[in-house]
Amino acid sequence: MNTFPFDTTLSRDGTGSIKWEKYAGKEVLPMWVADMEFPTSPAIISALKARLDHPVLGYTTATNELAQVVTQYLETHHSWSIDPDWLVWLPGVVPGLSALTSLLSPDDQIMVFTPVYHPLLLIPERYRHTRVDVPLHYMDNRWHIDFDCFERSINSHCKMLFLCSPHNPVGTLFTESELSRLVEICAANDILLISDEIHCDLVLDTERKHVSTGRVCGDHAKNLITLMSPSKTFNLAGANCSFAVIPDATLRNNYRSLAMYTLPIVPTLSYTAAQAAYTHGWPWHEELIDYLRGNLNLLQSAIDDMPFLSMDPTEATYLAWINTGSLPVKNAYDHFVEAGIGLSPGAQFGDPDYQRLNFACSRTQLQQGIDRLRTAVETFI
Ligand SMILES: Cc1ncc(COP(=O)(O)O)c(C=O)c1O
Repeated sequence: MNTFPFDTTLSRDGTGSIKWEKYAGKEVLPMWVADMEFPTSPAIISALKARLDHPVLGYTTATNELAQVVTQYLETHHSWSIDPDWLVWLPGVVPGLSALTSLLSPDDQIMVFTPVYHPLLLIPERYRHTRVDVPLHYMDNRWHIDFDCFERSINSHCKMLFLCSPHNPVGTLFTESELSRLVEICAANDILLISDEIHCDLVLDTERKHVSTGRVCGDHAKNLITLMSPSKTFNLAGANCSFAVIPDATLRNNYRSLAMYTLPIVPTLSYTAAQAAYTHGWPWHEELIDYLRGNLNLLQSAIDDMPFLSMDPTEATYLAWINTGSLPVKNAYDHFVEAGIGLSPGAQFGDPDYQRLNFACSRTQLQQGIDRLRTAVETFI
């Protein structure tokens, strides 16, 4: 029995939802961009309403109280002890990543593990840095970092690595030993490790926990920047208050001064939402994880039963990585849209044999998506 209405299908008509506007007026169920169909925690909504009782919405900064709340969250949920001074507030993780490129010299190159969330592919290009792709490796039902390939790919211009942990779209929850090894290699090669951990609170594996790169980086903390946000955890993408954790003071001050004139400040209401989320949102989050695990099981067994498709195990995130390479069509994305389901094409992330499906929706809606997937593949039997 749920306390919160995860099982209710809510219309987002009239809210300007990017996910739904894409197919407005068409019979297409959108299961692409990574926000959730669920109403956020009522505690967050109450805090936002209370903030609006004060009618001045001027330039706002993070309060000491919010910095303490985030510090406590990292300690309690990720066993990572930080100093609140290490926090740099950002209007989003993607803008934060873009601003990081200003720490580089023009010849510096950025490494990424592919396939990956597409802004991590696009940002190096956009800012004219050569991108060095290191393909992830599928083995024993899991996508892994191929460390030999990683080390072979490093050249003297590689100065930054964009890591997505847990990984979007392949769903890998990296282990402590994988992350420690990565930290060591980056430090030995003078590569600044950027750990995008926006999906860290969405662990669906029942046996394991997220490992923060910052917790395992040992003496190499000065070589690490971690990016986080309550936006995935609590479905607050439209009220974005993200943050970077930068232990090294010189790097932090440098980044802060560069970001200050590049990025907008965090909106007032986003700070309010973040503070309420980390303070009062956890009972909601506990049910969310339970509900997402149910959705994952439903989707995995449905796809296991379908011809032409296979789904790689999802250890974390609410995104399923579905192999559509055996489907006898030229363009799987178009084929699914014609069948009434809008997925994210894998080519966007670097692998055209895949489609990504967002299963953070009511079970009724997920079942509708599954039915459309089945119809789309069964036309070829
Ligand atoms: C790995 C990753 N980083 C960043 C973002 C987006 O961050 P923001 O909305 O804070 O810019 C997403 C959204 O899907 C993501 O998956």
